[in-house]
Amino acid sequence: MIEVKNLTVAFGEKTILENISTKFIKNKITVVAGQSGTGKSVLMKTIERMMSPSSGKVLIDGIDIFSLSNKDLKKIRMKISMLFQSSALLDSLNVFQNVALPIFEHTNKNENEILKIVKEKLELVGLKDILEKMPSELSGGMRKRVALARAIALEPECIIYDEPTTGLDPLIALEIVKLISKMQKHLNITSIVITHDLDCIDKIAENVVMLNNGKICFDGFYKDFKNSENSFIKKFLFQYRYL
Ligand SMILES: Nc1ncnc2c1ncn2[C@@H]1O[C@H](COP(=O)(O)OP(=O)(O)OP(=O)(O)O)[C@@H](O)[C@H]1O
Ligand SMILES: [Mg+2]
Repeated sequence: MIEVKNLTVAFGEKTILENISTKFIKNKITVVAGQSGTGKSVLMKTIERMMSPSSGKVLIDGIDIFSLSNKDLKKIRMKISMLFQSSALLDSLNVFQNVALPIFEHTNKNENEILKIVKEKLELVGLKDILEKMPSELSGGMRKRVALARAIALEPECIIYDEPTTGLDPLIALEIVKLISKMQKHLNITSIVITHDLDCIDKIAENVVMLNNGKICFDGFYKDFKNSENSFIKKFLFQYRYL
């Protein structure tokens, strides 16, 4: 469904992604791994057309998103949700308003219908009776859940999670990992999970795309990634396991 073809992204003289190509397989969980600063978030933002490549394409269901008008882009964006590294809840809005925001923006549903959807999505991520709470009153794990409820509000076909477990304590991180798996199974969602959390990778990855120095150094099944003899991958697995 999402395909990246010969994609190059540069900032001035600095090339971040160099001629990379991959496909994110439908209804599977693909982990995008790589060391800090290697271009994982840049890749995600380019897929959402928040950044432009210097060359190459991002195809969604075969359509090049950089050739679309803003109106058509909006439709495509409804199919792909993002969970940002920082959760990105709006601090001045309460939980209901945060989750309802994309529904107000993209549909003509009335307030009762929206309330029903918001409650349903919050329940799906394990939250109840917090509609009136402000983001500042929530723990880090709860903020992630609210952000996830917002990400699934429009019933997307794909969710891109940017570092969903970073900064959370291990038990809460595990809950989030379980939720990612639940979203994929329950809602049949294609998931792209950007992370260097090895526990997270181990629990959910079906496929792995690994970036190094602007290029893809691995693209395949997780079981092959885990047993890879490639020295860079072995070093990555060792470093993040033991440092
Ligand atoms: N808007 C921008 N303008 C200029 N350089 C940028 C911009 N966004 C990212 N970069 C650079 O691109 C490189 C890759 O950044 P990116 O945020 O994608 O890394 P990452 O792999 O997501 O790292 P992390 O694991 O720390 O989140 C970095 O060197 C960063 O400084
Ligand atoms: Mg990042």
